[in-house]
Amino acid sequence: MTDDSPAPDDGLRPDGGAGTEADADAEGADEVALDPWGSSSVDDYRKLFEEFGIEEFDEILEGVPNPHYLMRRGVIFGHRDYRPVAEAMRDGDPFAALSGFMPTGDPHIGHKLVFDEIIWHQQQGGDAYALIADLEAHSARGLTWDEIDEHSRNYLLSLLALGFDPEEGELYRQSDNREVQDLAFELGVDANYSELQAIYGFDGETDVSHMQSVVTQMADILYPQLEEPKPTVIPVGPDQDPHVRLARDLAERMRFFGVTTAYASFEVSEEELPHVEAAYDAREEYAEEPELPRCGDAAEWLSANRPADSAVESAISKLENAGMEPLRPRTRFLDRRATEAAFEGLIDAIDGEKRVFEGHVDAFDLERADAEKLAREIELEYDGYGFLPPSSIYHRFMTGLTGGKMSSSIPASHISLLDDPEDGYDKVKSATTGGRETAELQRELGGKADECPVYELYAYLLAGDDDEFAKKVYDECVGGERLCGDCKEQAAQLMREFLADHQEKREEVEELLEAAEIDLESPRRG
Ligand code: TRP
Ligand code: SF4
Repeated sequence: MTDDSPAPDDGLRPDGGAGTEADADAEGADEVALDPWGSSSVDDYRKLFEEFGIEEFDEILEGVPNPHYLMRRGVIFGHRDYRPVAEAMRDGDPFAALSGFMPTGDPHIGHKLVFDEIIWHQQQGGDAYALIADLEAHSARGLTWDEIDEHSRNYLLSLLALGFDPEEGELYRQSDNREVQDLAFELGVDANYSELQAIYGFDGETDVSHMQSVVTQMADILYPQLEEPKPTVIPVGPDQDPHVRLARDLAERMRFFGVTTAYASFEVSEEELPHVEAAYDAREEYAEEPELPRCGDAAEWLSANRPADSAVESAISKLENAGMEPLRPRTRFLDRRATEAAFEGLIDAIDGEKRVFEGHVDAFDLERADAEKLAREIELEYDGYGFLPPSSIYHRFMTGLTGGKMSSSIPASHISLLDDPEDGYDKVKSATTGGRETAELQRELGGKADECPVYELYAYLLAGDDDEFAKKVYDECVGGERLCGDCKEQAAQLMREFLADHQEKREEVEELLEAAEIDLESPRRG
């Protein structure tokens, strides 16, 4: 990391990594808004952790077997709930990866990141899905079906050329997938207009099909779990996070039962629970019969032993109200949306002591984890979905080759996977760099690899799996041994090679695409 970087933790790491956001903070980055249909740039990735609760990928990297280079280099910087996916990978349990592509233009090197992420998960043993978001492209971006067909073909050829196995994995288009449509309809029953308004800023002018494309995406995200609930990761850019949050929410809303821990007949909140738990654990201190501590006595203990904040006070008052009722830990199943038959089925399936109430049943000999498992089993048995909340991983957006953001509407800012290799070479040669004004200064001060789009090309793509090579470029750059002219020449040559090779592979996989069960000629009009 260079000395002039004000945010050493925020750049991509020099141990094979690139960073371009280092100065964003110093300049006072604008507010971050995550808008799936807006401009996809993020000024300050740290805000995504603080404001949106995205977690840092680094913290779980160790638990990922054989991590992808995009993970190792911090290009994949964030996640939601990726642990269950990593765990399934480690244990050889089922898991899935799914992402979708709006076929609005040519696939470019930004899409390649996502293609690679899906393919990597497939190679780690996951069920892999890639979908063409044609309904979204038609409704939210106004593309015609002919345009969509043509672009879709190009996305899929690149995905296959990069190594997606269509026999093991599944490719589909939204418009063609009846199960996705049906699931979207069901999910739509549980999402209303105000909610979409709050999340996406929809208003009275938003067309209905655009809204339908949102529930379709929700169904896409949950589709891998239709056959059987399993940890599922959605690799996307952080602009898609609002979709991920809604999908996690809806997955939970579809569940038949909620499982909680309780200590008496009343409900406690998450904040109150630790206090009630503490009072229970201290029962020897106050209970006349320690195997039968009374709620009232626990309340007294709490007021004597815990600083009175609002959670403590409300816990105390609940305990006081329960008076002589014994305090006794139990696992509670709340009936959220189960049918009567399913609730009865659950009650029957609970082993050991249980107590049935109006909207819940308490089990006294069942651990929480076993209870969650049982709740899901019964839900599935009675025709529920039993969804696990989907997980996500987020990658950084690439900086445009001309500085600023990489944008499909500025051809020189990005490299299309269909670019003529010579054009790719030229674009890299004319790219902006993080170099100094003169070679002399560069030798003296070193280049700013953290702000260099060319360095990003090495780290995100050109160095491939070779961390040592990426690190060498970085070290030589910041150490002043590497000058931009030669560095760009090397990158440009590698880009030319990559494009030539990729396009050759695209031709080779034409047959695979023909054989895949995806119809690239839409019968739709308009
Ligand atoms: N909305 C995504 C985009 O703009 C495309 C998409 C549709 C998608 N369904 C999805 C992405 C499911 C991930 C998962 O690119
Ligand atoms: Fe960028 Fe290479 Fe110049 Fe360093 S030497 S600033 S990595 S182009």
